[in-house]
Order: sequence, then C-alpha cells, then structure tokens
Amino acid sequence: MPKITSVKARLIYNSRGNKTIEVDVISDNRFLGRVCAPSGASVGKHEAISFPDGSPEKSLRILTDNSKKFLEHDASNLKSIHDVIRTLDQSPDYSKIGGAVAFAVTIASLESAAKALDKPLFQLISKEKEYRFPFPLGNILGGGAHAGPGTPDIQEILICAIGSKSIRDAIETDLAVHKELRNVLQKEDPDFTNGRGDEGGWAPKLDNEKALELSANACENLGYTLGKEVALGVDFASSTQWNDQSKMYEYKRGGFENSPEKQIEFASNIIEKYKLVYAEDAVHEEAFEEMAELTAKFPNTMITGDDLIVTNTEILKKAIKTKSCNAAILKVNQAGSLYDALGFADEANSNNIKLITSHRSGESIDSHISHIGIGTNSKMLKVGVVGGERIAKLNELIRLSEHDLIRGMAQI
Ligand code: PGA
Ligand code: ZN
Repeated sequence: MPKITSVKARLIYNSRGNKTIEVDVISDNRFLGRVCAPSGASVGKHEAISFPDGSPEKSLRILTDNSKKFLEHDASNLKSIHDVIRTLDQSPDYSKIGGAVAFAVTIASLESAAKALDKPLFQLISKEKEYRFPFPLGNILGGGAHAGPGTPDIQEILICAIGSKSIRDAIETDLAVHKELRNVLQKEDPDFTNGRGDEGGWAPKLDNEKALELSANACENLGYTLGKEVALGVDFASSTQWNDQSKMYEYKRGGFENSPEKQIEFASNIIEKYKLVYAEDAVHEEAFEEMAELTAKFPNTMITGDDLIVTNTEILKKAIKTKSCNAAILKVNQAGSLYDALGFADEANSNNIKLITSHRSGESIDSHISHIGIGTNSKMLKVGVVGGERIAKLNELIRLSEHDLIRGMAQI
C-alpha cells in the first residue's frame, strides 16, 4: 500500500489568470501526484465554495498547517483521505477550507497511488474488466458568462461527433467543425476578429439564432448530417438569464424576455430545429418541474442538469424522483472531494442518469478529468475543443487509446 509521505501546496494561476491552489501529494517518498484546482464563472448556487471568504491564501494556510494529518495514510484509499479533510471541515459546502483543497488533495492522492501501483488513474477510480471512451463534447461558439458584449446570451454551442467509432476520429471531427465554423463566421462578418471565449469557442457578435444557424452550417459544409455523424448541443446556462424578482428570463443581449412557459417553448424550438443531442440547464437552477417537462418531451436528447444538480448526490436524488433530467454534469469541484463525486457517479449510474464529466471555464493544464470521465462510465467528456488547457484533456484521451482495457466508444 502506497503511504503518503508528504503533502505540500502552493498558489498558481488558472486559465483566466486567477489565483488557485495546486497540491503535491507524495507517496513512499517518490511518487508524485500533482493537481491544480479549476474554477467556474457560471457557478451554481448550491455548489461547494472554492475558497473560504474567496481567499486562496486562507486555503493554503489551513492546508499547510494541517498537512501532517495526511501522512502515513494509504494514498489509494480515497475514503480515508476524504475523512481527514472532513475532520478539518464539516460544512456541507467546504466553506472552511475550500472545495478547491478537497478537489486537489483527493485527486493528487489517487494520482500518486496510481504511480506507486503502476496503474493508470482511471483504474483506481473504478475496477472494471473493460472501459469505454466518453464522447468529447466541445464548445465551438460561446457567449453568456464566458464572452463579452455582443455575443449570444446562450453560453455554449457544443459539438459532439456521435457517429465516430474511435476517440481520435471523434476529436478530429470536433476540431474540423471548430475550424470550419471560423470560415463560416469570417464569411458572415469580414470584420470577425477570430476572438474566442473562456473555453475556446468562437465569440462572434451574433444573436442566439444566427449563432446556432451558422454552427449547423459549419457541420453541413463538411458533409455531415446533424444527428448522424455529428450533433450539436447547447448549454443554455439559464440561471444567468433568470431574474428571481421578476420571475422572467432576461435576454439582455438579444433584447427580449421569456416567461417560464415561454422559456420552455424557446428551448424546445432550439432542441427540435437543431436536433440537439444535448441540452444543459435549459431552465434555471431551481426549476425542477420545467426540467421534468423537457425530459418527458425529449427522451432522445440528453436533458442535462449542471447548475440544477451541482454534482450533489442529495439534489440528484430529488431530480431522479421528480424525473427532472436524464443526464447530469459531473464537476468534481462542485461536489468538493473526488470521494463525494464518485458517490454522485454511483447514484447516477444506478438510476440510468447519463453522466457527462466536465471541465470548468477557468481550467488548469491537468488532464485528470479524462481519467475521471472514463472511470465514472461517463457518456461524454465536456472539455472544449481547442486551447492549451482544453487540448491537454483530449491529448490524454489519445494517449489512453494505447491502453487495451479501453474498448471503443461509450454508448449514448
Ligand atoms: P463554469 O460553467 O463557467 O461555471 O465552469 C461551465 C458550465 O456552465 O458548464
Ligand atoms: Zn453548464
């Protein structure tokens, strides 16, 4: 059993240039697990707090003061590492030490154990006879909280190569669509700057409808039929638009408002017209009933909860009871520790809820979530298409395609 011999942390920067924490866990004096915590921009109300009082310095101080408590623990025993963290912070949202610490320490421990045991990380996440690749799901056009004025209100238009038979083909297809979309956008607006949002999707001055139309055109220009070789997805991130006082969705850039009923119609029209394989947070984060309506209406689309469920097992149980989704985002740092997130994954997998393991918009260049996507039996891996911190995850999938325990693509 690999024993933890050192835990050390430092402050570094994420892809947005914001300070975050990186943790080194060493086992048996030589096996290094190193993990940097990501963070989001469209953060769900009920997700774990990244840092106490918004202070990475405070997280660093608490972890450094308590680092000896992890020594001698079995690095591969996720529960025992999680329990140590829980002796430091019993709050449900990790507001004392920060979810970023829980995230980084638990994943770094497991990575260090994986090295000590000479196994890939995904095998320590779950013990299966064989594994499958989740389909990469990537942002090709962004707006909302991820891009500036003039871009669509809708946060993300996504591509997924649902017809691909290999991980390399899936990645290449997504890349080709991303590239072709730039050509389409340049034709539409010769002054398009080629600017991109936080997750690497293009950030043009377009309204929602035009952005969707041009994304579909890019797929068609390459000879693809939507719903066959490739499919589009949308992260509506509707909580960004929701005004809890007026009870209206305010599309400030588009210049219109939707009542809750109108919002369902708005999302339904987009799902139907663009044959979406994937629709995330089409209504706001507390609208369980409206989500249930969409789930019943579109059984062949992944009606997905992100801000709605925030990788929280109790909220997922509620969503299962109310039939509010057929798919759920798994973001480890929304839950806090990897142990919490794997509990969530078990609950989803045993209730037919399709998992999508996801990056955050403020990312690191780590690639642990590629392993987490495989180990949690995720159907998709939402990690963007281009940008160093996004391509790092996709390149790790290519490396893993050399592993004979991973047999082909997931079934979606
Ligand atoms: P984030 O959101 O900005 O909170 O990471 C991404 C998403 O909504 O999926
Ligand atoms: Zn989202």
